Amino acid sequence: MYRNSYVLVDEKKLSNNIKNIMKNYPGYKYYFGVVKGNAYGHGDIVVKTMIDAGINYLAVSSLDEAISVRNYDKDIPILCFGYIKKDDLEAAFKNNVTLTIISYDYFKDIKDTKFKLKVHIKLNTGMNRIGIKKQDELESIIKEIKDTNLTLEGIYTHFATSGVYDAYFDMQLAKFKELTSNIDLKKIPIVHLYNSLALVKHNGLEFANGVRLGIAMYGFSASANIPDNKLPLVNLKRKIKLKGKNVSPVNLNNNLKLEKVMSIYSEVIYITEIEPDEFVGYNAIHKSSGHEYIATVSIGHADGITSAFKYVKINGKTYPIIAIYMDYISVLVDKDVKVLDKVTIIGDGLSLSDVASNSHDTVHHLLVSITNRLPRVYK
Ligand SMILES: Cc1ncc(COP(=O)(O)O)c(C=O)c1O
Repeated sequence: MYRNSYVLVDEKKLSNNIKNIMKNYPGYKYYFGVVKGNAYGHGDIVVKTMIDAGINYLAVSSLDEAISVRNYDKDIPILCFGYIKKDDLEAAFKNNVTLTIISYDYFKDIKDTKFKLKVHIKLNTGMNRIGIKKQDELESIIKEIKDTNLTLEGIYTHFATSGVYDAYFDMQLAKFKELTSNIDLKKIPIVHLYNSLALVKHNGLEFANGVRLGIAMYGFSASANIPDNKLPLVNLKRKIKLKGKNVSPVNLNNNLKLEKVMSIYSEVIYITEIEPDEFVGYNAIHKSSGHEYIATVSIGHADGITSAFKYVKINGKTYPIIAIYMDYISVLVDKDVKVLDKVTIIGDGLSLSDVASNSHDTVHHLLVSITNRLPRVYK
């Protein structure tokens, strides 16, 4: 690593987050670690830490991702959420990858495979992305699968909303129950519905024994630990807003103390002083309002930095970003800042959640948008 700009992945925090989640939500037999998108940008290598911390099933979105993850653990089961072509079932079998039945047509396409594969059925309860939507199709699969090399190991669905006091969550849950009403769920080894947010916001479901942890493992519970003294007021406000909407209860508070696993650092490589009414950046975007110190920091668009990143920290002090380029950012600093000073882009109180809200984006998207030009350094 020659340029001193990098992503720091704190595996101790990752491990603590997982242990913390499992301690607070102990009722499950299967804790899936969702590691699609190169483990949400942290690097597939972190699966080792996840497994040590208690994750006992991994989940990815494609066979390529499953095979990449397989390099780090030869035994852990890996569920592929996405479509795997019939021609690729041998590779899935060799890598011990569990398939998702994403539609009845897909099931019909692969059911005569000679490979012994575990499968989970995905139910489309309202996302309308993938999954079985019709009860008769689900029941046919469950009947027909017995005569195939496929073993039905699991059934699941995915929620389209955060489920925070919203009727859509309730509707999806009701749809899941309706679709499976003629099925003995106890006969299916793994039933999993919740992702991170659903887990922390909702009470457990007596028929589910698995949860799929994504963003929470990486330190984002989005559960804004509301201080106890503020809770009654927040609760009251929400109740008033939702009066008459008849939605199921939501847990506003929890004891999770999750820490962000990823931080991003760079360094100052150049400083210039400018006089009043000088300009900085493309399109002369910044006009100085007095004598100013401008630091050039060695990180930019090609690393995943966008105009939604507003501040950095240098020597504990916060400074605004005033211009962004492919490889640099310009920061309005003061005379305390020196060339080669370390710059915190994310960390020490600067959060990707704030960047996300600046750009009406999601933390999920931002995490996977930090490019591989920034080496991942593991702590
Ligand atoms: C099917 C499925 N389950 C679980 C997750 C994890 O979600 P989260 O990161 O919100 O916990 C995802 C993430 O995209 C998903 O697609």
